[in-house]
Amino acid sequence: MSPFLLTRTLPEDATEAALRADVLKGLSHTPKTLPPKWFYDAHGSELFEQITELPEYYPTRAEREILVARSGEIAAATGARTLVELGSGSSEKTRFLLDALTGLHTYVPVDVSESALTQAGHALIAQRPELSVHALIADFTAGLSLPDTPGPRLLAFLGGTIGNLLPAERAAFLSSVRALLAPGDALLLGTDLVKDEDVLVRAYDDAAGVTAAFNKNVLTVVNRELDADFDPGAFDHVALWDAENEWIEMRLRSRTDQTVKVPALDLAVDFAAGEELHTEISAKFRKDGVREELSAAGLELAHWWTDGEGRFALSLSVVR
Ligand code: AVJ
Repeated sequence: MSPFLLTRTLPEDATEAALRADVLKGLSHTPKTLPPKWFYDAHGSELFEQITELPEYYPTRAEREILVARSGEIAAATGARTLVELGSGSSEKTRFLLDALTGLHTYVPVDVSESALTQAGHALIAQRPELSVHALIADFTAGLSLPDTPGPRLLAFLGGTIGNLLPAERAAFLSSVRALLAPGDALLLGTDLVKDEDVLVRAYDDAAGVTAAFNKNVLTVVNRELDADFDPGAFDHVALWDAENEWIEMRLRSRTDQTVKVPALDLAVDFAAGEELHTEISAKFRKDGVREELSAAGLELAHWWTDGEGRFALSLSVVR
């Protein structure tokens, strides 16, 4: 049997401390905000898996199509012996990369969701007994240090999750990623692309209401972890396209005037009827913008692949 290591890069209570800090700051801010990373408890991760199967939510299928078509080229261009995957979630699409990377020694899935990591890690080890898996429970926006594994390393950040960061956060994140890479290492980045507004909005406001439940799940997380008394039914799911910033925004709109208590923070938060709590941005990209953002971080776009309908892109940068 190959080893399955699970490493927590932060003490368990650091997650709670980070949640407290984010909730205190976000609910005191105008407009009120909560960062999207808190969607992903076990239930939220399960809801996201359901989202990826919705007819309206195309990014997962589009990215899978690219991985199926291009994993061989990615393997040839990188020769990776270590695959690091940030925000690995269920690692479902990663299978195509793992199958193509014939010289792979270690897989390092990194996620904030412990449940997703253990499930995915054990499923993978059953399929690939010779591979060592070193899972990291970590918030990759908070500065990451990687285990000492053989190079070259391929760092994959799939799904379009980079779009959850604001432009300045993306710049800082890409620079920190660049700093982890040595010559011969590579970054594989998934980005959802700008397209018709209706298609985008439907992807974040599906007919079955799964995305609405996913959005409201952040309230349930705050209730459970910080003893708050959010009533998820007292908020409406909102998804809108910001054409200027070229991002989708998800919000939760208060249906009434209400006060929410967060005893763990000694906080009472007033919501006016119609007031919106901002929960996520999901930026959509163009090739030139991706090239510029990579370049500003000292990374050079070497390959750009899209699905047949041009909805989603994977870009590969190899460090010289
Ligand atoms: C997992 C961050 C890529 O932004 O599309 C799905 C999360 N939010 N539906 C995205 C999400 C609403 C998703 N990412």
